[in-house]
Amino acid sequence: MCVNNSDGQKKTESIDFASLSEEESCFLFRSVFEQSSDAVIITDPKNNITFFNPAAVRMFGMDAEQLSRQNINSLAFGRRIILPDELKKLSKGEYPEGLRAENLFMTKNGFFWGHTAISVITGNGRGKQRILFVIRDITTEKNLREELFTSREQLQNMLDFVNSMVVVTNGTEMRNCNKNLLNFFGYESLPDFKENNGCVCDMFVPMNGYLTESRRGHWLKKVLRNKASSGDTKVAIKDPKTGSVRFFLVDIQPFPGEKYYYIVSFTDITELENQKKLLEDTNISLEEKINRRSRELFESYRKLAANEEMLSVIFNMASIGIAMVDDKGRYVRVNGRFCEMYRLKEFNIINSAFETVLHETLREDMRRLFMKYRDGHLKRIASEWKIRRVDDTVMDMLMTTKWVTMYDGKRYLISTHLDITDKNKLQQKQREQERMLVQQSKMAAMGEMIGAIAHQWKQPLNAIALIAQCFKDDYDYKELTLDAVNEHVSGILKQVNFMAATIDDFRNFFKPARTMQEFKISSAVADIVNLMLPQLKVNYIAVYVDDTGTEKCGSEVYGYPNEFKQVILNLIANSKDAIAERRSRKTLKNSEAGIINIKIESNEQQVKITFADNGGGIPDEAMSRLFEPYFTTKGSGSGIGLYMCRTIIEGKMKGKISARNTGDGAAFTIVLEKFIEGSSE
Ligand SMILES: Nc1ncnc2c1ncn2[C@@H]1O[C@H](COP(=O)(O)OP(=O)(O)OP(=O)(O)O)[C@@H](O)[C@H]1O
Ligand SMILES: [Mg+2]
Repeated sequence: MCVNNSDGQKKTESIDFASLSEEESCFLFRSVFEQSSDAVIITDPKNNITFFNPAAVRMFGMDAEQLSRQNINSLAFGRRIILPDELKKLSKGEYPEGLRAENLFMTKNGFFWGHTAISVITGNGRGKQRILFVIRDITTEKNLREELFTSREQLQNMLDFVNSMVVVTNGTEMRNCNKNLLNFFGYESLPDFKENNGCVCDMFVPMNGYLTESRRGHWLKKVLRNKASSGDTKVAIKDPKTGSVRFFLVDIQPFPGEKYYYIVSFTDITELENQKKLLEDTNISLEEKINRRSRELFESYRKLAANEEMLSVIFNMASIGIAMVDDKGRYVRVNGRFCEMYRLKEFNIINSAFETVLHETLREDMRRLFMKYRDGHLKRIASEWKIRRVDDTVMDMLMTTKWVTMYDGKRYLISTHLDITDKNKLQQKQREQERMLVQQSKMAAMGEMIGAIAHQWKQPLNAIALIAQCFKDDYDYKELTLDAVNEHVSGILKQVNFMAATIDDFRNFFKPARTMQEFKISSAVADIVNLMLPQLKVNYIAVYVDDTGTEKCGSEVYGYPNEFKQVILNLIANSKDAIAERRSRKTLKNSEAGIINIKIESNEQQVKITFADNGGGIPDEAMSRLFEPYFTTKGSGSGIGLYMCRTIIEGKMKGKISARNTGDGAAFTIVLEKFIEGSSE
């Protein structure tokens, strides 16, 4: 009942039946009874219809007369509406809610499905039991239900049939899904799945390019939005069985009849994606490679260009002639200096045969030589050439050659040409000067020697003069017997022999050795000392030779003995001069002896000769220039003595000579390589 309360609002109240008057309840009952759209039928306990409303007449298609003669059970098709047993229990109140049944009812024209609510009316206490049947036609509803059921079944079959994983969802709750989805996640049924998981979106793995929205409901909106903008939605889901991530393409369709539900399918595109990725990776790495390669190429091209530029600058500015000839012997490139050297123009040279830069008389031989060199029959080409140019002038040329394989894969002969005509001339001059120096030094040595010989001869000549006097005396005093003559003659011969020996020594000294030979340093020193001794004695100079240091290893060297003697002679002469000079300055008393100490020592590798005097030493300013040619401090000196010493020791015999000052004189040291048996040819 609806009543208005004090503040005018509608208020619903339940009816208190007990407070109704009989009239009121009768009215209420009749209203409900007559206006209800459900059929209301009342039967006696034997199920005979005793009472029914207009809706019942309409529903069963019978007139009231017919209907009133029916047993309620006879209206139902198949199963009875109520069984006697059920009726008994109902009467006893064992079904406090009443009985419910669904039956197929017969009508005059056919059937309908009816939902029946059965209850017992105990009446008004007069003891008569009545049964109340309220029947509602549910045919349409039941058909619909069945239809729905069938279509659901079909849908399920379809869902299970498709390869994809399919789910019916509103984005939050899963209404249905197919077997594929359950299999994938390892569940038997949807309730199983739901018990352990929330939304399917919880399974999405966040990855770039794949749907990561995991908020329930939102993900579905995104999928829908993507589909509307004709874009694909892809998701990544971890495969619970293998732990690897698989990729799915998501498609969405509205679920028929349900506004917020959608059929969402997940099609496995892992293979496709992987292949795409692989392809992309390959493309990227290919692109990277190409980029890198082009960068490298560009860089090397740049370097090459810089090198090329540098090379061509060097090539053109070089003070030596450079030529590049192909393997047919044709000039490919020449520089300015080359053209100058051969006195030709570049355009006359390029592309012509290489021998055309030479005088015609040389060309044939040179071509033959080139061919041999090119074909490997000739390993190297001489480096020094006397070249006759096209204009018949001559040049000394130093040449280097090298075969080079160029960027075009072809072989080219690169040659450098240096004009050494002037250098050779200069060298020639130097050699001549040196020869002159040697000559001069020999002349000087000869002077020394003549002095020495003069001294040597003084004694025998005196002796001979003395013998000649004896001859005359013996004759005057008639004492010239044969014995006396023999005695005098042999005395003269002895002196003459001595003098002849001195001359031989002198001759040997000036006989230059052609080849190197083994000789003993101590013997060479002794020879010169003996020769010089008389002269030195006259100058009050004592010579001491100490060669005890050579007892173990000897003093053999390999070289030129006469030249070496010349060295000793020069050193003795210098010492003699220095001592005489000191005497003249009175820094050495007349009675005080001049001394020359010659010490010879050796080990297995070297022989060392130390030559020291007490001549006062070398002036400081002279020390650094001693060995220069023409350097002298003496008025009568030529200054080539020590220069020759160095030329012989260092240039010819690969030794070393040096000078220093001692306390009261100068010391010269000569070091020579020791001769080892079998070490030289
Ligand atoms: N034993 C020495 N003591 C002092 N000075 C020396 C000695 N030996 C050489 N000198 C100095 O070295 C200079 C060069 O010596 P070197 O023998 O080359 O020429 P020189 O003796 O002057 O002339 P010459 O060509 O006649 O030998 C000498 O002029 C002298 O000044
Ligand atoms: Mg000298």
